[in-house]
Amino acid sequence: MVADTARSILDEEERRGLAEIAGASDLASLEAAETSTLGRRSRFQEVQRSLGTMGPVERRGIGKRTNEVRDGLRSAIAERRALLETEREDALLRADAVDVTLPGRRPRPGSLHPLTIVEYEIVDIFTRMGYRVVEGPEVETEYYNFDALNIPPENPARRVSDSIYLDVPGRPDLLLRTETSAMQIRTMESQPPPVYVIAPGRVFRNEDVTAKNMPVFHQVEGLAVDEHITFADLKGTLESFYRALLGDRRVRFTPSFFPFVEPGLSAGALCFNCEGAGCPTCGFEGWFEMMGAGMVHPNVLRGVGYDPERYTGFAFGGGYDRLAMARFNIADIRMLWDGDVRFLERFEGAR
Ligand code: DAH
Repeated sequence: MVADTARSILDEEERRGLAEIAGASDLASLEAAETSTLGRRSRFQEVQRSLGTMGPVERRGIGKRTNEVRDGLRSAIAERRALLETEREDALLRADAVDVTLPGRRPRPGSLHPLTIVEYEIVDIFTRMGYRVVEGPEVETEYYNFDALNIPPENPARRVSDSIYLDVPGRPDLLLRTETSAMQIRTMESQPPPVYVIAPGRVFRNEDVTAKNMPVFHQVEGLAVDEHITFADLKGTLESFYRALLGDRRVRFTPSFFPFVEPGLSAGALCFNCEGAGCPTCGFEGWFEMMGAGMVHPNVLRGVGYDPERYTGFAFGGGYDRLAMARFNIADIRMLWDGDVRFLERFEGAR
């Protein structure tokens, strides 16, 4: 190779190399720039290899220039590498960075179900009055659910069309309890008087699902048996209960019949929705039916071995799904079962 060619190649490679190094945007392209400028198959190496074929004077001149170009390129590469490495580290740090000013992700606190809220309120009110909470089986026998409650065999509630019987061979008397009243009997059988209990829980009836009815719903039963208990005690107890639960809402008692009480009554509150005018919520009655109640029938007391000459008592029972609906303005009973978070969120912090 003649000296002039060598010199111009070196000039050109220096210019081209410096530009390629400066333009390398990451470590990989810098690596490629190094190979193409100084690598074994580069034009620079070609010049270096040809030094041996040159005369001593030219070799010295070109050799010096070769060293200059190589050192220049190497230090440009080293500088560029240092820069790209810090940039890469910065990018990694930035990607890893934690913004301590961002709000944290907290677990959702959840909420009590509206039915549970109402149930707890009822339990609170009665336990303050000295009542104890009892719970019983959801699969009952006809004896506890009907017979012991003075409900005769021909009562229509006992039909398969109204009640849900279990298909257990040899046990045609098993059914899902249709009322929590069965707990009156179980409680009295298990202890002597005095008795002051409430029994909240699920009950089951063979009904179609509608906006107001579910085959599964909830009732709370109450029972007080003691010496000298009168109808005035029943009225006073229910009035205190309703005042605690509903404030000064007007409540009415009307005569009614239930086989296990005598006399019996129905308790209703002035409708939450229409204030007595009549609307779908109260079935256009103006009053919202809440409970059945009455003085415990002597047959029931006798059946559990209590002496009806010495002890008297009252019982009451009613559903609270509709009470929850009225309280929280829930138009459709099915919302209580859907488990829709958007609905349940409304009750966060309600209790
Ligand atoms: N068990 C009745 C029902 O499901 C409600 C009831 C009425 C309960 C009168 C009582 C009562 O304790 O005395 O419709």
